[in-house]
Amino acid sequence: MRSRGSSPTHSNSPPASLFVPNRFKGKLIVVEGIDGSGKSTQMSLLSHWLRSQMIAVAFSEWNSSPLVHETMQRGKKKKMFTPTTFSLLHATDFADRMERYILPLLKAGAVVCADRYAYTAFARDVARGVDRRWVRNLYSFALRPNLSFYFRVPSEVALGRILGGRNAIKYYEAGMDLGLSHDVEESFRIFQGRILDEYEAMTQEMGFNVIDATLSIEAQQQQMRDIVQKKLGKNLQAVALRTLERGTPSVEETAAVL
Ligand SMILES: Nc1ncnc2c1ncn2[C@@H]1O[C@H](COP(=O)(O)OP(=O)(O)O)[C@@H](O)[C@H]1O
Ligand SMILES: [Mg+2]
Repeated sequence: MRSRGSSPTHSNSPPASLFVPNRFKGKLIVVEGIDGSGKSTQMSLLSHWLRSQMIAVAFSEWNSSPLVHETMQRGKKKKMFTPTTFSLLHATDFADRMERYILPLLKAGAVVCADRYAYTAFARDVARGVDRRWVRNLYSFALRPNLSFYFRVPSEVALGRILGGRNAIKYYEAGMDLGLSHDVEESFRIFQGRILDEYEAMTQEMGFNVIDATLSIEAQQQQMRDIVQKKLGKNLQAVALRTLERGTPSVEETAAVL
């Protein structure tokens, strides 16, 4: 798919009109993919590697803002969400983390690792029937990531991993709110299949670095590190040196003073 207004040969960043440029010292790395694709595993390993190079690293996880936590829990438990209210609440979560956490850390020169980003809403909310342009516009305040990884995995593989780790698939994770099937696993397959289609359609436009998430954990991590090194290496070196000059504050210390 050819992206709007950007060169098809240089697909390393999303369209200029979509997000706000990151003019800070810090860098933003994001991971995307369906549940069970291995995002958290890979991001955790990447952060260890970055920290070993004296780089200050912070995490920000989708749906983790204390501001909306109770409403999110209650809405899920009582199955109260419509696609629009679900989308808006996630956008509020995102805005809270962006303004209170991600931006200050980037200003301070940290590498922020986001476990899911606005692309999750672009894929998931649209798979729920929310208007594509509306949801993109909703997230137009978001900062443009410096590097985005997409972990490509068939929904069958993801399902097997999820079921291997815990008992049940969650109601909204399976898209049960959409009435796709009475069978939760079947609903998961259909819903996650739709989300996969959305990710695939975005891959080139958004400049995702696609990782074959069926590979071993080690092989994927090596690919990730190679890409980070190639695309952000010089920037990270500068951040690490600056951090060292200041006496290597931990991310916790950095966050505490902000
Ligand atoms: N490459 C892999 N091969 C096999 N299992 C994996 C792989 N990567 C992750 N897993 C396992 O799959 C499950 C889901 O991984 P996780 O990183 O939590 O995925 P996500 O954050 O995308 O939902 C975990 O139990 C994890 O140990
Ligand atoms: Mg995860």
